[in-house]
Amino acid sequence: MAKVENISFAENFPISFKELEEEAEKVMGAGGFGYVQSGAGGEETLKKNIESFAKYSIVPRMLRDVSVPDISVNLFGKTYPYPVFLAPIGMQRLEHSEGELASARAAASFGIPFIQSTVSSYSIEEIANATGTSPKWFQLYWSNYEDAAFSMVRRAEESGYEAIVLTVDTVMMGWREADLRNNFSPLKLGYGKANYESDPVFMATLHDGDVVQGILDNIHHPTLSWEHIARLKEKTNLPILLKGILHPEDARLAVEKGIDGIIVSNHGGRQLDGVIAAIDALGPVVKEVKGRIPVLFDSGIRRGSDVVKALALGADAVCLGRPYVYGLAIGGQNGVEKVLANFIEETKVSLSLAGVGSLKEMASLKLLR
Ligand code: FNR
Repeated sequence: MAKVENISFAENFPISFKELEEEAEKVMGAGGFGYVQSGAGGEETLKKNIESFAKYSIVPRMLRDVSVPDISVNLFGKTYPYPVFLAPIGMQRLEHSEGELASARAAASFGIPFIQSTVSSYSIEEIANATGTSPKWFQLYWSNYEDAAFSMVRRAEESGYEAIVLTVDTVMMGWREADLRNNFSPLKLGYGKANYESDPVFMATLHDGDVVQGILDNIHHPTLSWEHIARLKEKTNLPILLKGILHPEDARLAVEKGIDGIIVSNHGGRQLDGVIAAIDALGPVVKEVKGRIPVLFDSGIRRGSDVVKALALGADAVCLGRPYVYGLAIGGQNGVEKVLANFIEETKVSLSLAGVGSLKEMASLKLLR
């Protein structure tokens, strides 16, 4: 890390998101880069996710002793040093041969949760073995063979994962034109099969041993409803978060049904184009939830001041998506660590300059206009 005055930053590494994206494009194939970078439909939501942050202005407070910023966050009885987590991103061998192992190790070095996707290139157990007791959450895509989904949840529980994140906005794939144009499906190429081929319950459902076809037959689940969630609750004692909630009514239902947390997200604009910018959905959801369960946020976080805005709108923590996988493509574990180091430093500086010495003060400061 280099230093300019009070700022520590990763030297010889892209600083801004734009530079990260440009460097990642140089090292990734066209199909893989298109898969990560693009959004659904005409990419209205992908653009809106970013642009909408500018609608919110920070009104900083002064003279508040911000010399030792404490940005730790307590969730489900555990304290994490930073409110910046790694979002579930599938099939990370697309970016780097070490894939999720590299990203999970980077998260571990900061003590923040790595949220592992169902469709990972490395299995639940491989990631647990690589990272020991560092915090890990498991993101679940439901399965038509429900017992296969429950089997993965049980494996995550046995491997020490601390929460289950059920993604509810992906009951089928969005209309992604870059992938259609490139005729590119990393799932079909086998990048997302590690958790399936290591699952005895799933493997027993296959008639012809074709794992990839089995995944394709299983992963799209348009019948998913609150009844499935009630059954999931019976199967695990881990906290369950729903990822992909945008409507305050769904947030209210989640609280009523005993869900433990929400991630406000539109999947980075990759599912339904034309949906509300995630940052615009955050305030109304927080208002509905009234502090009863934690609300996390992703989709469009590109720098530290975005983190401040999401926290000021009431998020308990945020998740990084594309920025960290670009870091992975550029430099493996080290690349993800550099992205995280810069993000955390910019977040600390931004919070301090906004007059926030501790996240506990955030709600009372009314920092946004
Ligand atoms: C994702 N996302 C995602 N979400 C999920 O629940 N399971 C998954 O397997 C994936 N896979 C995935 C792959 C790629 C390449 C991307 C870019 C995204 C969505 C992810 O968790 C998160 O919601 C978005 O990345 C947030 O948007 P930004 O900030 O990356 O634009």
